[in-house]
Amino acid sequence: MTKGTILSGMRPTGPLHIGHLVGALSNWASLQDSYRCFFMVADWHALMSEYESPEVVREATLQVAIDFMACGLDPERSTIFVQSDVPEHIELYMAFSFVTPLGWLERCPTYKEQLRNITDRDISNYAFLGYPVLQAADILVYKADTVPVGEDQLPHLELTREIGRRFNHLYGGIFPEPQAMLTNAPRFLGLDGRKMSKSYGNYISLSDTAEDIRAKVMTMFTDPQRQRKSDPGRPEICNVHRYFDIFAPDEAREVADKCRKAEWGCTDCKMRIAEILESRISPIRERQAALMADPAEVEDILTRGAQQARDVAEATMAEVRPAIGLKGTRR
Ligand code: TRP
Ligand code: SF4
Repeated sequence: MTKGTILSGMRPTGPLHIGHLVGALSNWASLQDSYRCFFMVADWHALMSEYESPEVVREATLQVAIDFMACGLDPERSTIFVQSDVPEHIELYMAFSFVTPLGWLERCPTYKEQLRNITDRDISNYAFLGYPVLQAADILVYKADTVPVGEDQLPHLELTREIGRRFNHLYGGIFPEPQAMLTNAPRFLGLDGRKMSKSYGNYISLSDTAEDIRAKVMTMFTDPQRQRKSDPGRPEICNVHRYFDIFAPDEAREVADKCRKAEWGCTDCKMRIAEILESRISPIRERQAALMADPAEVEDILTRGAQQARDVAEATMAEVRPAIGLKGTRR
C-alpha cells in the first residue's frame, strides 16, 4: 500500500511551548512511520504579520527547527525544512493567486478575526490577505492528502481545496483534495487560566529549566475557595488538575480524591505536577542543547530537508508551469 503524504507547519514567531508539544508535535511525531511526512518552518507566513521584526523571525526559525527535532520529528524518517529554502512554494502561490477570487479571501473567518484582534502590528497589507493562498501552495506543491492541524485552521483547508479544485478545472487535474486531520489534542489553558499566548507569557516553554517550571507552576490559579489546606477543594474547576489529566492521566483520579478530602495542599499538588512536567521536558531540553551545540549539523539537516522537498516540489512545478502557459523549463 502506498503511504499518504502529510504536510504541516508552524510559524516561527517565538519559542515553542507545551501547548505546541501536546497540541501538535507529539501527534506529528507519531505519524512519521505511517505517512510520507513534510514538516515545515513557515518563515514566509511568519513574516506576513511580523515583517517589522525580521530579527525575531530569523532567530525563531532555527529555534523552531531545533524544537521540532527535540520533540521527536526525525530527519531520517521525515523531511524537515524551512519554507523559504524551497522557492517553489512562492512560485505556486503566484499561480494560485490567478484562481483565487478576492471575495474568498476577504470572507475568510480567520482573516476577519485577525484584522479585528491584531492591533499592535499593521496587517492591512496585501500579503496578509493572501495568507491562505500561500498555505494552499505549501500543501499542494507536495500533493499532500493529509494535513494535521488544529480546528482554527479548517477555513484554510477549505480554501486549499477550493483553490486546488478551481486550478484543476481550468488547467487539468494536477492536485488532490487534501483533508484536515484534526489532532484530537486535549485543550488546556495557560498558567493564569487564559489562552496560552506569547503576549501573556503564561506558559511553560520547551526550554524552561526545572527551576523555571517549579516557579511558574507555583503561580498557577487553583480553586479560589480553597484558602486553607483543611478546606476541601474542587479539582473539576482547578486548572492544575487539568494538567494532571493531560500529563499524568493515571494519577488524576487519586489527585482529585486527595483534593476533595483535603488530604493534601495545593502546594503539595503543584510540586507533584512540576515534577511530572520536568520529567516530560527534560529529555526535550537535553536534545535541544545537543542540537544547539552543533549548529553545523542543524544546518546540514535543513539543507538536506530542503533538497528532498525541492525534488518533490520541482516535479509538481514541472506540471504546473506549462499548464498555466509558462515555457516550463525545468530548473
Ligand atoms: N497557518 C498555520 C498556523 O498558523 C501554519 C501553516 C503554514 C501551515 N502553512 C501550513 C499549517 C500548511 C499546515 C499546512 O498554524
Ligand atoms: Fe487544584 Fe490540586 Fe489545589 Fe486541588 S489540591 S485545588 S487540584 S491545586
